[in-house]
Amino acid sequence: MSAKKSAFNPVGRLVAPLLHQHGAEVQPYGTVSDLPIALDEATRRASVEALNQVLADTMVLRDLYKKHHWQTSGATFQQLHLLFDKHHDAQVELVDLIAERIQSLGGVSLAMAHDVAETTRLTRPPRGRELVPTQLSRLLEAHEAILSYVRGAAAEAAERGDDGTNDLLVSDVIRTNEQQVWFLAEHLVEAPLVRDEA
Ligand SMILES: [Fe+2]
Repeated sequence: MSAKKSAFNPVGRLVAPLLHQHGAEVQPYGTVSDLPIALDEATRRASVEALNQVLADTMVLRDLYKKHHWQTSGATFQQLHLLFDKHHDAQVELVDLIAERIQSLGGVSLAMAHDVAETTRLTRPPRGRELVPTQLSRLLEAHEAILSYVRGAAAEAAERGDDGTNDLLVSDVIRTNEQQVWFLAEHLVEAPLVRDEA
């Protein structure tokens, strides 16, 4: 079969891209589609709502790490520059796990920055640079806010029988956040670098 050529597209219709298509959305945010995973709609809806909160907060924490990765300063610049990027990358992995869990439950995951900004409970940082102690404190407070919410959400998911969501929240989100808190908090210990006067 040969492609018909037109005056507007000399290549032919078969390879001509269909541009500027703007259909209606196929699943509104906040709804859950019916997937056969042996969890009722109320259970999946509750888990999706909790997971979208965790997703929004995790995306903000992810971006907070990149902000501090770029904007940190001082004698510990090199190590914090690298540490913040390492933690950022781990949060990126969490974001994908959480978003895909939401879709696996039949839900719709948050994605765009303005929707995330409207949803997150984390404190908005200033646009400008901050010193290392403030950067670290801001990150630690964000981690604790996430952990506080996720501990409750994990327990509620288990009570509903949603073991997959409970496992994700405990094994991935809680463990990753707890370890990152450890690495940050040790940088706020006022330990002498040269003379041990303890
Ligand atoms: Fe970088």
